Amino acid sequence: MTESATPLLELRNLKAAAEGTPILNGVNLTIGHGEIHALLGPNGAGKSTLAGVVMGSPLYEITGGQILLNGEDITDWGPDVRAKAGVFLAFQYPESIAGVSVVQFLRQAMSARTGVEDLSVLEVRFAMMEWMERLGMDAAFAERHLNEGFSGGEKKRNEILQMALLEPTVAILDETDSGLDIDALRIVANGVRTVRAEHPSLGCLVITHYQKLMDELQPSHVHLLVDGAIVESGDMDLARAIEREGYEQWRP
Ligand SMILES: Nc1ncnc2c1ncn2[C@@H]1O[C@H](COP(=O)(O)OP(=O)(O)O)[C@@H](O)[C@H]1O
Ligand SMILES: [Mg+2]
Repeated sequence: MTESATPLLELRNLKAAAEGTPILNGVNLTIGHGEIHALLGPNGAGKSTLAGVVMGSPLYEITGGQILLNGEDITDWGPDVRAKAGVFLAFQYPESIAGVSVVQFLRQAMSARTGVEDLSVLEVRFAMMEWMERLGMDAAFAERHLNEGFSGGEKKRNEILQMALLEPTVAILDETDSGLDIDALRIVANGVRTVRAEHPSLGCLVITHYQKLMDELQPSHVHLLVDGAIVESGDMDLARAIEREGYEQWRP
């Protein structure tokens, strides 16, 4: 198999539990180079769990199956090692983080990704400025403090900036419950497009209910997760069928 034919991310019969309760019951999913996949499913299906399990969140226990990144088995790797290897989950920072500026926060995230501990603030600021310009963001945003009056759109800006600067192999965007307004949605869509233009091989898994976001991103693959398993995969036609008919017909 040539290197480019090796998928970026492969989930093989992945099973996971939280506090002893099985949540994922055998998920199979393969994301190739440059592909955008959308993951849909009713509330409680296990979408956020899937994102957490791929990141190596300690909240979940993997009870079966495998996770492969670029063909390498990362099932037993800790979250920090996975992040360093290029798995990215748009981080919903806890409300308790305040008084840390966006640039300081991104410096930490970049250190974790690159393994370089003494990245200079200047260096980070420079990379950030470049990306903020590409993304059409105001330079003053770098000095804002996390959670101090961030709008939904500003939270999304911070996440997209992280994704741009960390240059992940695979990015997971869990947009299900975040109450995206139209501006925030546009920031995410433009952000993903801009980052992909720079890094065409980036693979994306976008978890969303928003048909508008899918229209903007045009995922090549659409999956439906019900009760912890993917019950159907297809293209945008599947997303449109779900939008039209709801999840009812796919419920067991
Ligand atoms: N940390 C946890 N501990 C216990 N149960 C959890 C935990 N996280 C999720 N669950 C349960 O797993 C199921 C799937 O949740 P979740 O992955 O958040 O679904 P979705 O994102 O598709 O709405 C739900 O029944 C939820 O209550
Ligand atoms: Mg969720």
